[in-house]
Amino acid sequence: MIYQIDQLSFSYDGINMIFEDINIGLPHDNITLLDGVNGSGKTTFCRLLSGLEKGYSGKIVLNDNILSSLSTSQVANEVTYIKQEPSANVVAVTPDEDISVWQHKFKQKIGDDAISRREKALKEFNMITFKDQPFWELSGGQIKRSGLAALLLNYDKYWILDEPVTGLDEKLVDIFVTILQKRKEEGKGALLITHQQQKFKPLIDSFLKIENKKILMKT
Ligand SMILES: Nc1ncnc2c1ncn2[C@@H]1O[C@H](COP(=O)(O)OP(=O)(O)OP(=O)(O)O)[C@@H](O)[C@H]1O
Ligand SMILES: [Mg+2]
Repeated sequence: MIYQIDQLSFSYDGINMIFEDINIGLPHDNITLLDGVNGSGKTTFCRLLSGLEKGYSGKIVLNDNILSSLSTSQVANEVTYIKQEPSANVVAVTPDEDISVWQHKFKQKIGDDAISRREKALKEFNMITFKDQPFWELSGGQIKRSGLAALLLNYDKYWILDEPVTGLDEKLVDIFVTILQKRKEEGKGALLITHQQQKFKPLIDSFLKIENKKILMKT
């Protein structure tokens, strides 16, 4: 299990509960789909798992470590979280710079092939033409694609994907499905939120659904 969650309860305001007494495990090599109506708490669950929300009760264990005892970068060494809002994933001015920040942060092959790895990731999502253009001149779909290119630099980690393909062309969705499939064959899993379930269906190992502040296993 990459995540083991025990007796997790959470509320943003201390009054309205988003989750109540969640007990669940996420296998590291599974693709787990997380479903639930708008406002049910899907994004909140991602934020909890990635350590961005602290005020919860219960226990979240990430790879045998208590999540609340880990620093942001310790969590980021294990897990990559793609946020629902594309521009929320941006950490630099241009796509090329954005990806090099990831390379630098995780010291991934800063050697000679750093540029080619970057180009390969950008090429995968048709972003070469726009790689030096500032994000404020890019469309929502292009920003999303840049985020997915950066994700490829974090290929070996567990992925938390909050609507990763919303707004993308069908061809790019297919490319992303193929990448997830390849990773899955290599034993690398993900937590996935998507409204395009049909496309991802063959990859899904388990279905979770948020209902009435609980996370239920769907069969
Ligand atoms: N920062 C915040 N402060 C207070 N309440 C919040 C905050 N973020 C989300 N909420 C509330 O928590 C609930 C769950 O929101 P969340 O964004 O997790 O839902 P979601 O399932 O991801 O929805 P969607 O399908 O629209 O993306 C909603 O009622 C929302 O209003
Ligand atoms: Mg959401």
